[in-house]
Amino acid sequence: MQIHHKPRWALPEREVTPEAVFRNRRALLKAAGFGILGAGIAAPAQAGFFDNLLGAGGAKPDAEVDPTADLYPAPRNEAYQVMRPLTDESLATSYNNFYEFGTSKRIAAESQKLPIRPWTVTFDGMVEEEKTVDIDSLIRQMTLEERVYRHRCVETWSMVVPWTGFPLADLVAFAKPTSGARYIRMETFLNPDVASGQRQSWYPWPYVEGVTMEEAMNPLAFMVTGLYGKPIEEQNGAPLRIALPWKYGFKSVKSIVRFTFTDKQPSSFWMDIAPSEYGFWANVNPEVPHPRWSQAMEEPLGGNDRIPTLLYNGYAEEVAGLYKDLGDQKIFF
Ligand code: MTE
Repeated sequence: MQIHHKPRWALPEREVTPEAVFRNRRALLKAAGFGILGAGIAAPAQAGFFDNLLGAGGAKPDAEVDPTADLYPAPRNEAYQVMRPLTDESLATSYNNFYEFGTSKRIAAESQKLPIRPWTVTFDGMVEEEKTVDIDSLIRQMTLEERVYRHRCVETWSMVVPWTGFPLADLVAFAKPTSGARYIRMETFLNPDVASGQRQSWYPWPYVEGVTMEEAMNPLAFMVTGLYGKPIEEQNGAPLRIALPWKYGFKSVKSIVRFTFTDKQPSSFWMDIAPSEYGFWANVNPEVPHPRWSQAMEEPLGGNDRIPTLLYNGYAEEVAGLYKDLGDQKIFF
């Protein structure tokens, strides 16, 4: 079946990728002798495209079956609901941002190259004792639950998905930070052998993001190990990512290997690339436009409608208090 209407969330990448990145890439391609920009990929014209990508890696060999698979589906925590339909699983797992595997949204197949076992997570910096733990042992020490959250990308597409995981506050308790810690810096893996995007040296790899300790202790801050009642797949950030639903999606780091507790506000991947466009707080606000586009509306994946974006992505009651004493800091940037 032909798609006659192309929704806005299917925009070519060049319209949403930060300008600085595109300028650098253009310069590089030019230097390499290519006349055109290589990655302005338009949306696929065939509806079956998403079905083809579903389970893009195909069945995994036995050795790669997730050792925590028996923990899914976890009981749903009904306190976290969204009065909008769930996004179709095939869309949420095939329309992704994961720059480590390319600037296209269609990285699901490529991301299967990421080895997600064995996987370790390191806790360091201002902690009682630095430690590195195996992901399966870590997950089994936590109590998993499912929560339905909104997710709002800074590019204006959005989705509603059932994440499985545990509160970030539980991970903080496990890490045992010392009293001086004020921020957590979260870091993604670095493995250019499998992640082709990480061979592109104009990006400041690895992908890094940060939160304050107060944000980390907010009950909404959620560590994610599963999606749609199953272990999370590579393209969505396996085996461990975060969901911070009141912030733009770029704060929700994927495939985390390190949590560093610190007293200094960390910089981030996007702040380093385009400091005039991306800041530390990145709280969703429809009234504060991105320097190059409005944030007033959003387009839910899979629909043709645009809907109004909500302050703090609809979570103001839970999180507005975190920012009341921050004076004139640009908390929506
Ligand atoms: N984490 C890493 N390591 N690399 C990325 O490119 N993209 C971010 C965020 N986390 C990104 C990342 C952005 S911009 C968004 S919107 C979300 O992941 C997308 O998550 P999803 O693909 O599961 O929808």
